[in-house]
Amino acid sequence: MLEVTDLVKEFQTDRGERVRAVDNVTFSVPHGRVLTLLGPSGCGKTTTLRSIAGLERPTGGVIRIADKDMFRADRKLFVPPQRRPIGMVFQSYAIWPQMRVEGNVAFPLRVLPRRDRPSRQQIRREVARVLEIVQLSGYEQREATALSGGQQQRLALARALIRQPDVLLLDEPLSNLDAKLREHMRFELQRLHRELSLTMIYVTHDQSEALALSDVIAVMRFGKIVQMGDPQDLYDRPVNQFVADFLGTTNFVPGRVLSGADREVRVETAQGILACHPGQPLTSGQQVLVSVRPQNVQMMTTRDPALTTNVWEAQVATSVFLGEVRHYLVTAGPVQLRSVADAAQNLTHGQRIWLHLPPDQCVAVPHEEPLAAQSAPTDLKIRG
Ligand SMILES: Nc1ncnc2c1ncn2[C@@H]1O[C@H](COP(=O)(O)OP(=O)(O)OP(=O)(O)O)[C@@H](O)[C@H]1O
Ligand SMILES: [Mg+2]
Repeated sequence: MLEVTDLVKEFQTDRGERVRAVDNVTFSVPHGRVLTLLGPSGCGKTTTLRSIAGLERPTGGVIRIADKDMFRADRKLFVPPQRRPIGMVFQSYAIWPQMRVEGNVAFPLRVLPRRDRPSRQQIRREVARVLEIVQLSGYEQREATALSGGQQQRLALARALIRQPDVLLLDEPLSNLDAKLREHMRFELQRLHRELSLTMIYVTHDQSEALALSDVIAVMRFGKIVQMGDPQDLYDRPVNQFVADFLGTTNFVPGRVLSGADREVRVETAQGILACHPGQPLTSGQQVLVSVRPQNVQMMTTRDPALTTNVWEAQVATSVFLGEVRHYLVTAGPVQLRSVADAAQNLTHGQRIWLHLPPDQCVAVPHEEPLAAQSAPTDLKIRG
């Protein structure tokens, strides 16, 4: 179990200003679980991770690993990084190019104080053990620089694992890899996590990585956690515009709350009223955006009389065939929506259709920021 409570980290800039990189962050990760810190550049992900690793001294808060205090601001307690039961993989891998694979992996053991250091034979055994885990057995004597990107990545993982950490911290570990390799390594990480039942904190700004790997996602912005929950929950029930926009692709329909309750609100939009699920408590008259994912924009060629709410007449503006699916841009009066459907459902340009936006999959969130110019996604610009 890893517990982070009210973590604050302020940096002093050259000009004497204080930057609050981490602002009262609290979360816990049960043993064997993966928590992902997800958020845009500069939101405080790396600083949070480095604070847990002991590479930063926080300004406030408590960090505990396996029921032991690692940091406590109130008692001025700070356990140095080498005495924390963690392994860390950095975005840059931080592999030592002058060393062979064996030297890189053994390094964390070789630098231990003599009384804690295993014998040479034990070190050799440990190196063989972790290289097998990451499937690099036989590469011991290879120059580290003579490895491919994916192999260097696995080498960095092996080095992080050699001291059998309680917690593995991974800072954008896949960002230097090409798309194919990234997907492969994602499966590798899942396998490792299962086999070693590691507790992991994973940092990324890639939402698909976060959705694929995490038990829990914490979405960060400006040093704070704005929403935390299991991936499906965050995806289906974003609390605000930022989370809805950051996690996956969505349509935003602007509107105004007509009436509301805890479970359902009615929103007046330019094309009529939509029944929606409120992402957070909303008040009558409030300006909102209705977020509805493209795959939830259902398209029908005939009107289903059984559906009485959230049905709009529309027209197909563009259709792009992508193999398994088709991407559509449809217009309902002044409202433009993206939709994704099975490739078998072949609707053509200009065709009149009916849209159903299931109320349970429409989430109304406060309209906080101006929307980016509502343009067609680039993959829809191929055909007009
Ligand atoms: N050593 C430092 N001195 C001053 N400010 C810092 C320092 N390290 C980080 N910051 C600031 O703290 C904020 C958070 O930085 P951090 O590196 O944690 O962001 P991040 O979420 O990891 O971003 P990225 O996705 O770009 O890696 C940023 O505004 C950054 O400029
Ligand atoms: Mg970072």
